Amino acid sequence: MSNLTQSPAWLALAEHYKEVAPLHMRDLFNDDPQRFEKFSLESGGLFFDYSKNRITPKTLELLFDLARQAGVPEKIKSMFAGNKINITENRAVLHVALRNLDSNPILVDGEDVMPKVNAVKEKMFKFSDEIRSGERVGYTGKAFTDIVNIGIGGSDLGPLMVCNALKAYGHERLTMHFVSTVDGEQISSILKRLNPETTLFIVASKTFTTQETITNAHTARKWFLERVGNEAHIARHFVALSTNAKAVAEFGIDVDNMFEFWDWVGGRYSLWSAIGLPIAIYLGKHDYQDLLHGAYTMDEHFKNKPFEQNLPVIMGMLGVWYINFFGTKTHLISPYNQSLARFPAYLQQLDMESNGKSVTLDGSRVDYQTGPVVWGDAGINGQHAYYQMLHQGSQIVPIDFISSIEHPDAPEPHPAILMANVFAQTEAFMRGKNEAEVRAELNKAGITGEAQDKLTPHKIFEGNRPTNTILMQRLTPRRLGALIALYEHKILVQGTVWNINSYDQWGVELGKQLAKAIEADLTTPGLTTSHDSSTNGLVNYYKRNASR
Ligand code: F6P
Repeated sequence: MSNLTQSPAWLALAEHYKEVAPLHMRDLFNDDPQRFEKFSLESGGLFFDYSKNRITPKTLELLFDLARQAGVPEKIKSMFAGNKINITENRAVLHVALRNLDSNPILVDGEDVMPKVNAVKEKMFKFSDEIRSGERVGYTGKAFTDIVNIGIGGSDLGPLMVCNALKAYGHERLTMHFVSTVDGEQISSILKRLNPETTLFIVASKTFTTQETITNAHTARKWFLERVGNEAHIARHFVALSTNAKAVAEFGIDVDNMFEFWDWVGGRYSLWSAIGLPIAIYLGKHDYQDLLHGAYTMDEHFKNKPFEQNLPVIMGMLGVWYINFFGTKTHLISPYNQSLARFPAYLQQLDMESNGKSVTLDGSRVDYQTGPVVWGDAGINGQHAYYQMLHQGSQIVPIDFISSIEHPDAPEPHPAILMANVFAQTEAFMRGKNEAEVRAELNKAGITGEAQDKLTPHKIFEGNRPTNTILMQRLTPRRLGALIALYEHKILVQGTVWNINSYDQWGVELGKQLAKAIEADLTTPGLTTSHDSSTNGLVNYYKRNASR
């Protein structure tokens, strides 16, 4: 048994769970008219209603005890202080330095990182201003119209998600493209539509060794040179975002055209760094800084607020409550702004690459659940697809509903219909529909007797299914910044409780290693026999059919 599951705070929660599990939220709401006021709060322009959770005030007290016992306050301090909390890579975790707007010194190995953070920001803003204004042009003197970001994982999902979410703030002349997969059909279909004279390629890779990205970057370079015929023009049309100057130079991009960041910025936490260049270009300096400002506001909130008013702590500990005591396995992110449709995919990497771990900081196997499967898509579409299972399936899936009050471009009557659905869904998940209500409805519809008995069980909704609702006035850069930082910090809280390293990602290595070996097999004639029978069989099936 681990220290955690035997600890006083954990055991107290396990006991408390026995009291709470039989309670229905319907009754909790009926018994306490102030429940909404008690369990909702606002910060960084985000309104957070967590009253539709299977909690009592006592639950929160005990969850906060667990957070304290696990050292969450110390971990928060440690991260902000620049300590090397990523112990397996011996690195600090300092995405917060990238939006440290008051520029207080943050030391890593005794060096204040703020001057270099600010210098790269200035370089990014100068560059993005020049692209936007048309002062920086392509090799024939034409202004850029298309920006192609080539990157994968954290070097893709953040900029992609933000540029999609904030399209309303994007520069009208610019179209953003994101190439990530090594399935060459993606880059081909994008390049087909582009004019090399007006296209800027941004090669985004922290390591600059990621096979997918480097392959795509070479394809883009080849495409460009075939059309332009002069290597000298590469400098105007290719820039790199990386921590690896040597590899950037080897690829053929002048290091003057490289925007640097550092090993203490995790890939999935990197949109605040040079990886955010596509965002800065698309939104411009003012709105990009607003995004950082929103995150900074959430950082300050996280650092300074007591647990009782601390959004990321509350959110993180609610997750622990469900995962570790109710045994939930997945968590749905359900945005009701269409522009946030890619937000769940972004959070998938953020959360699952961070807390998808099963070994504690001291190397022992956990005997409790850690990070959930995070999934989702635009919420309203989900209602007509997988919500059936969420309402009546055999698993409990906690859900985060996210929406803005204003939807500026939506014609009437769309906004009210959309928002009615948000609120109705959370009500339905909480209340459900009990047998008496189902029978009353069927009676009204004239269905009685045996027919009613048969139908009734199918029409019952147990309810008591937990949801959070996050509302903001309007989806602005600032609100989005706060929202992303909220989830980043929630992940820290949970990772600390589970005593895992949320900041490495060794789990992605094995597949990469094996792919290298298999790539060699695929290009070697003859039967492949060095793997298990399934892998050999698949490789050989491919080889037989690829050469047809
Ligand atoms: O394979 C996972 C990963 O290492 C992510 O953590 C990272 O965001 C992504 O690959 C891309 O890495 P890079 O920016 O070094 O190309």
